[in-house]
Amino acid sequence: MSSPSSVLAKTFLFFFALFGIFANLASAVPVAEVEKRDVYDPHVLYPHAGTVWYKGQRHNVTWDTSDHPVNITNYLGRIMLRKGLIATPLILEENFDILLGRIEVTVPWVTPGDDYSLVLYGDSGNFSPMFTIKE
Ligand SMILES: *[C@@H]1O[C@H](CO)[C@@H](O)[C@H](O)[C@H]1NC(C)=O
Ligand SMILES: *[C@@H]1O[C@H](CO)[C@@H](O)[C@H](O)[C@H]1NC(C)=O
Repeated sequence: MSSPSSVLAKTFLFFFALFGIFANLASAVPVAEVEKRDVYDPHVLYPHAGTVWYKGQRHNVTWDTSDHPVNITNYLGRIMLRKGLIATPLILEENFDILLGRIEVTVPWVTPGDDYSLVLYGDSGNFSPMFTIKE
């Protein structure tokens, strides 16, 4: 019960609970990601909880670049869409500089729902809070 990785996981979950996305991560973060704490997984700022997007719109996804490590092993970012706890195969944008802090995406043509989130990949993935996509 108190293996090093479960202690690590608890510490990690506590950290993210402070940012209000505990529910999202509690059931979703694989242990593999928990153990890769030295990599860069930028924190998504927008979209956030309460955001409503309409399909076909263009929006700037933004993320915090202030805490990136000096040397990043992967400078190329990728943004994918997730519905509920399920990853979708939809790539909204990729091969952009992860240090830009923002990238324009087009809201994809998907089933309307209030449980969408984005996964921003640098070295590792970071989930946005859930937000809404409407027709
Ligand atoms: C995204 O941000 C850039 C720079 O601030 C701005 O020029 C552009 O119009 C924005 N795009 C949208 C869709 O808001
Ligand atoms: C970052 O990489 C440079 C060049 O490879 C190296 O000189 C430097 O020590 C590295 N810095 C850190 C903090 O790893």
